[in-house]
Amino acid sequence: MRIPFVAGNWKMNLTRTEAVALAKKLAETPPTGSVEVAVCPAFVYLLPVAQTIGNSHVRLGAQDVYFQAKGAFTGEISCGMLLDVGCEYAIIGHSERRHVIGESDELVNAKLKATVASGLKPILCVGEKMEQRDAGKTKQVVKDQLQKGLAGLSADDLSLLVIAYEPVWAIGTGRTATPDQAQEVHDMIRSWLGENFGKDFARQVRIQYGGSVTAANAADLMAQKDVDGALVGGASLKADEFLKIIDAAGRAGS
Ligand code: PGA
Repeated sequence: MRIPFVAGNWKMNLTRTEAVALAKKLAETPPTGSVEVAVCPAFVYLLPVAQTIGNSHVRLGAQDVYFQAKGAFTGEISCGMLLDVGCEYAIIGHSERRHVIGESDELVNAKLKATVASGLKPILCVGEKMEQRDAGKTKQVVKDQLQKGLAGLSADDLSLLVIAYEPVWAIGTGRTATPDQAQEVHDMIRSWLGENFGKDFARQVRIQYGGSVTAANAADLMAQKDVDGALVGGASLKADEFLKIIDAAGRAGS
């Protein structure tokens, strides 16, 4: 039984006061049912948010991480620094990092290797663009991202791995994948993991869906066999909306 995992990706949003207030509300509202919850604020707000969530059920994640441990890498943040401020998770290869900032699969792979070696839990994002879906290339694109992102790592290395399937065309657009479209790709991801890392490994890996998840569509998405939670952007910035999504995941997980 995989416990659903709902993570809020706050991206470059909220002020410190807003981030702390949102974290406080979430920490004060334990979920019903079985669901894990995390928030991923901007780097500069990790510490105040960590202090706010304390030992509550809410976990802390970063939106990115660099693969080097220390040194002359201006502007970057290491796994050790994230662990030091209380992070448990790091998002890696988000579509905005790949397509806006220009991160390669090789960089994603280096970040993944550093993350698992440090004990941080990676949330590896994969997903196709609209034109790739239209061209019938969704599975090929996602498999390619998985293969390159996870290259050189074993099932043991990846015991803490979470995958987020986020079709690029659904992120921040209000255009969600249908539950069937999500399930089809999640099923393919799990099969690919089974072929490459073994069936037992594939069975326990959590695969989140991301891309315009809202309180209105969360329950239908979570009801899919291979959808184990959500990576939520816009809807995670409003406490009431995010709590409803957490609730839908908790009900699906019980
Ligand atoms: P969205 O973002 O929920 O605003 O579409 C999801 C994400 O980018 O993780």
